[in-house]
Amino acid sequence: MSTPRDTADQDRVLIFDTTLRDGEQSPGATMTHAEKLEIAQLLDEMGVDIIEAGFPIASEGDFEAVRAIADLAQQASICGLARANPTDIDRAWEAVRPARRPRIHTFIGTSPLHREITKLSQDAMVARIHDTVTHARNLCEDVQWSPMDATRTERDYLCRVVETAIKAGATTINIPDTVGYTYPRESAEIIAMLRERVPGADEVIFATHCHNDLGMATANALAAVEAGARQVECTINGLGERAGNTALEEVVMALKVRNDILPWRTRVDSRKITNISRLVAAVSGFPVQFNKAVVGKNAFAHESGIHQDGMLKNAETFEIMRPEDVGLTATNLVMGKHSGRAALRAKLSELGYELGDNQLKDVFVRFKALADRKKEVYDDDLIALMQDSAAQAADDHLELRRLRVICGTDGPQEAELSLRIDAQDRSIDATGDGPVDATFNAIRMLFPHDAKLELYQVHAVTGGTDAQATVSVRLEQDGRVYSGQSSDTDTVVASAKAYINALNRLVTAQTRGNAGALINKVG
Ligand code: KIV
Ligand code: ZN
Repeated sequence: MSTPRDTADQDRVLIFDTTLRDGEQSPGATMTHAEKLEIAQLLDEMGVDIIEAGFPIASEGDFEAVRAIADLAQQASICGLARANPTDIDRAWEAVRPARRPRIHTFIGTSPLHREITKLSQDAMVARIHDTVTHARNLCEDVQWSPMDATRTERDYLCRVVETAIKAGATTINIPDTVGYTYPRESAEIIAMLRERVPGADEVIFATHCHNDLGMATANALAAVEAGARQVECTINGLGERAGNTALEEVVMALKVRNDILPWRTRVDSRKITNISRLVAAVSGFPVQFNKAVVGKNAFAHESGIHQDGMLKNAETFEIMRPEDVGLTATNLVMGKHSGRAALRAKLSELGYELGDNQLKDVFVRFKALADRKKEVYDDDLIALMQDSAAQAADDHLELRRLRVICGTDGPQEAELSLRIDAQDRSIDATGDGPVDATFNAIRMLFPHDAKLELYQVHAVTGGTDAQATVSVRLEQDGRVYSGQSSDTDTVVASAKAYINALNRLVTAQTRGNAGALINKVG
């Protein structure tokens, strides 16, 4: 069996994607089983080397997802996370075992702050690392070990724990900057120090895992690569707790565009980046900021006259990478109500969506409905429509059947709402302070719940008064966050559908017993 370790060569950097584990830990980014599989499939297809598919002990849902991803992956190693105890490690092994290339990733917090929490002396922790890595290695030949909060761990002790893990059989040593505290020079120094001082360092791959609290996650990761790290841990769109993780698209494109000074390559097909970025944004409910590097809506937009003029003469004047290198189609051909099914299929394929006949049939109906309400349908409208379809699941408990709102300057607004709740239609009238408030009140009356509305956000997909609105909603219950998103030319309808979408996720998580996923919070 070949592991990434066998295939790694000195000019190759392995890409370890943790969107489905560290990314999914962002409050509200919880994904459904089907969504996780769809993302894993794309990661595998685009050439990611290792997919960290989840934290199997965290919940039954996490376990099932990791196991299903282990079954489906063709190329990538499938990794499951485990704390430093045999129960976690056994559970992770059970989940990743069916994979062509299984990997166990086990970790323990090694900094003084973490040692205080686990109440382990330095010696006791070394013994625990030895035992748990040995246990993992007896199960699986590919074992990754991480000293959590490595960048705030005393350097001598860091060398000691890394040496222990290597001796016990770890094949990859990951150095996490768990709280996004390090700085590029320091990030490089730590890797260089470990490679120089730790016996057996030549036998393993060093990985870098950075968080973005000070906005330096990508810079820190690349500095670690310069110092000899050969695995970068990252997420799509930089998704992750707090300020997120190193963004996969930034690392891949930096290595490609600046190959003159960063002479390392990855196996990732960068043309698939835009597509997966959109999927992750849609299913996580975390829209990509407009000016986000590589995948932001404005990353290739040129507004100012000087820039536009330069671009027309020679695109290289203001563009260091071509839109098509990240899978962004150069055209924005307008579709309308006379566009046929073949044109829609071709357009969607250009945007990175390959649909089967049945799926195309459904999407075509929704496209026609949109084109009836909106004269010109732009790329962004179609992307919103596809994201809306992705957000609906076949096993949804609640469905919007009808909504009518009565607005006026003189009085409370009124919403007449019908919902289908577990195959039963129910209707109610409610009032509120504005049409959205009245609609949300009606939903709460028809489907009482304790979840609190944490976020309500609207943005226009395109320009014009007939533009679609994309609404994001975040609900919180018992410390867990559920997000929903929807788009419609009617902002109130989009709001109702986004709220219902978040409720569906809440109900699904509760039915699947995912409530235990809170233990997932590991940095
Ligand atoms: O940030 C971190 O320390 C982690 C570890 C579990 C690797 O995500
Ligand atoms: Zn992390």
